[in-house]
Amino acid sequence: MSKNIELYEESKLYSPGGVHTSIRNVNPMKVFTKGEGAYIYDADGKKYIDYQGAFGPIILGHSHPYVNRKVIEAIERTDLYGVGCTDLEVELARKICTHVPSSEQVLFCNSGSEATYHAIRLTRAITGRNKLIKFQGCYHGWHDYVARNMLSSWDMIGKRDPGSAGMLDEAIDNTLVCTFNDLDDVERTFRENKGQIASLIVEPIPHNIGCVMPQPGFLEGLSELCTAHGALLIFDEVITGFRHDIGGYQKVAGVTPDLTTMGKAMANGYPIAAVAGKREYMQRFNTYPGGDVWFAGTYNGHAVGTAASIATLELMENEPVHEHIFRLGEKMRSGIRGIHERLGIEAYVAGFGSVWTTYFMNNEPKNYSDLQQNDAELYVNYRKKLIEKGIFKMPMNIKRNHISYAHTDEDVDTTLTIIESVLKELVHK
Ligand SMILES: Cc1ncc(COP(=O)(O)O)c(C=O)c1O
Repeated sequence: MSKNIELYEESKLYSPGGVHTSIRNVNPMKVFTKGEGAYIYDADGKKYIDYQGAFGPIILGHSHPYVNRKVIEAIERTDLYGVGCTDLEVELARKICTHVPSSEQVLFCNSGSEATYHAIRLTRAITGRNKLIKFQGCYHGWHDYVARNMLSSWDMIGKRDPGSAGMLDEAIDNTLVCTFNDLDDVERTFRENKGQIASLIVEPIPHNIGCVMPQPGFLEGLSELCTAHGALLIFDEVITGFRHDIGGYQKVAGVTPDLTTMGKAMANGYPIAAVAGKREYMQRFNTYPGGDVWFAGTYNGHAVGTAASIATLELMENEPVHEHIFRLGEKMRSGIRGIHERLGIEAYVAGFGSVWTTYFMNNEPKNYSDLQQNDAELYVNYRKKLIEKGIFKMPMNIKRNHISYAHTDEDVDTTLTIIESVLKELVHK
């Protein structure tokens, strides 16, 4: 019997569905036992070029030797104290405040969901208002403030669409949902909820639906609208942060939000996240004497996450990490466009830097609603076929792919050859 199947069957005995995050339960189901550089291996020993990248954290490559060494060095002398601060926290905070434009001060937590929760509650305390704006299709974590109108079914777009049973009505209804790239919609929402909106949270590039780029002026427009209406702007850079630039997408776009949340690529797969922003706002957290917004966590600033993050940022500072992943990202996108041309396939290859996806539709999507045009069946079948041939991409509709510093030109060439053969098979059946 396949070891994959055997372990998965056992996993289902002990954990509901056999997986530890909802959307990990996919078909084909894999049990992974090894990751090294650009490659991952399943329990049957099959090797894949990995573009899932753990949903984004893996920016340097799996089990990166430098990051691992720095983690091991750190935990041989230090771990967690639950009091005071550590030298590693100071070093990491200094790096983030040096690189990320909006980060005058920063606090560490363990996941992106914690970071967005803290950021949003802080904006409610600062403004004395309750409401929040998010965008249809964006994901900001699992908590009640934001878990609505994520990957909504098409008939629920923009409607009241809580993502989970058990959510508080008050949390759902205080979160208003707008259309990405539509400043008129945001403006109308501010006007209709005058004096009630504490903040607006946005993925500057909504990567949770692949790669929908902000149109010129959109992020600037959000910043202006927030200022005009006395609300705070939160950039959720949990995916874009450190992946698109060491300073985050805010550095690329030249738009500085009031608060920023970060995670994922921050530590190449080790668990740590952060919330950062203007000093005057951050000092409302009760880590500061007299601060009145609760901020805590037993594992905050653990040596494993902080050491891994310092090592990851050091590599970004000292080696051409972004140059490499951007060049390979462009090579991949233009290679795929060439394949589409040769095969006469109408598709839109979207992407930025190291991230890309192929939407099977013939124009650029500007928001979640536009993605209804994508041929979802082809999208998922394409990914499943690629997995069979050793290219791992998430086998799910409108998901993105990630290139890491460990991927090589040869990996991209191999991937393009396999993509061409799979598309030939699927489209010219
Ligand atoms: C943009 C964004 N924000 C927040 C989160 C939540 O982060 P975490 O899964 O670490 O809680 C995610 C996770 O995918 C995300 O993509």
